Amino acid sequence: KAEREALRTRIRHLLQRENAVLVAHYYVDADLQDLARETGGCVGDSLEMARFGRDHPADTIVVAGVRFMGETAKILGMHKRVLMPDLEANCSLDLGCPADAFAQFCDAHPDRTVVVYANTSAAVKARADWVVTSSIGLEIVTHLHQCGEKILWAPDRHLGRYIQQQTGADMLLWQGSCMVHNEFKGYELEGLRTEYPHAKVLVHPESPEAVVAQADVVGSTSRLIQAAVELDATHFIVATDLGILHEMRARAPGKVFLAAPTAGNSATCKSCAFCPWMAMNGLAGVAHALEHGAGEIHLDARLADAARRPMARMLDFAA
Ligand code: 13P
Ligand code: SF4
Repeated sequence: KAEREALRTRIRHLLQRENAVLVAHYYVDADLQDLARETGGCVGDSLEMARFGRDHPADTIVVAGVRFMGETAKILGMHKRVLMPDLEANCSLDLGCPADAFAQFCDAHPDRTVVVYANTSAAVKARADWVVTSSIGLEIVTHLHQCGEKILWAPDRHLGRYIQQQTGADMLLWQGSCMVHNEFKGYELEGLRTEYPHAKVLVHPESPEAVVAQADVVGSTSRLIQAAVELDATHFIVATDLGILHEMRARAPGKVFLAAPTAGNSATCKSCAFCPWMAMNGLAGVAHALEHGAGEIHLDARLADAARRPMARMLDFAA
C-alpha cells in the first residue's frame, strides 16, 4: 500500500515536470483511473479519450489503455509526445485485422464505403473512409445508409451485426471479435436473469448476439456507466470488462453490479471478463514511461495523415 502511494506521488510530480496529462480507459487499473481524474486528466471511452487528448495543451499525453488508443492520440496530435506504460498492450480486434489482408478485402469491394472501428491499427484506419467508435458507430452508419451507401465494415463482427440489425444497412462484415466480450454466454445470462428478475442488463456491443438480445441498454463504456447511474434499478448485470465496475460503483453507490457469465466462469474465477492487454497498464509502467520517456508512440507522418482523415470525419460528425 505504501509502495503504491509512493508511486502515485512520484507520478504526480512527473506529470508536472514533463507537462504531461494522463488519459485512461475505464478498463484499466482503478488506481490509474483515480489518478487520471485527480490530476486533471481524463477517464473515458475511446471517443472521449481521443477528443480529450486532441484538445489538451499538454506536451506529453500518457495513454493508459491499449495500443490503438495511443496511436489515436498521436494521429490527432503529431506534435505531441505520446507515451504508453506498455507498448505491447494490444487488442484482439486490431491483431485480427492485418493491414495487408484488409487492403485486399477493400480492393475486392470497391463499391463499398469503408467503415472501421477505432480498435484497429493506423494502417487499417488509413484505408478507411470513416473511423467510428462504439459510441458513434450507429449514428454514422444510419447517416451513410440514409445516403444510400453500401458499407464494408471491420473488424468486429458482433458490433457490425448489431449496427446492421439496427439500421438495415447493407453491410459486408470482416469476421473479427474481441476475445473478452466474445466469451459472454446467452444461455447462462438467462439463468442469472432468472435469479435476479429485476436486474437491468447492460451490454457492450462487442458481445455475441444472444447476449445483446437480452440487454436493456447496449452501448459504449461511457453509455453503460450513464445507464447504471440513471436507470431506476437496484441490480445490474454487466457484460463488459469488469474494470468498468470501479466507475459504476463510484457513480452509483448502493447499487449492486453483477458480472455477466462468461465461458470461463468457475468456482475460482467468478468472472473472467478482464482484458489482458488493458491489465498491462499499471502505476509502475506510467512512472517508468514518464521518468525515462519510455513507451513512446512513433508513427510515419504520411500514414498518420491518411489515418487522420477518416478520424476527423468522425470527430466532426460527433461535434
Ligand atoms: P469503448 O469505446 O466503449 O470504451 O470501447 C473500447 C473497447 O476496447 C471495448 O472493448
Ligand atoms: Fe480489444 Fe476487447 Fe481488450 Fe477492448 S476488451 S481492448 S476490444 S481485446
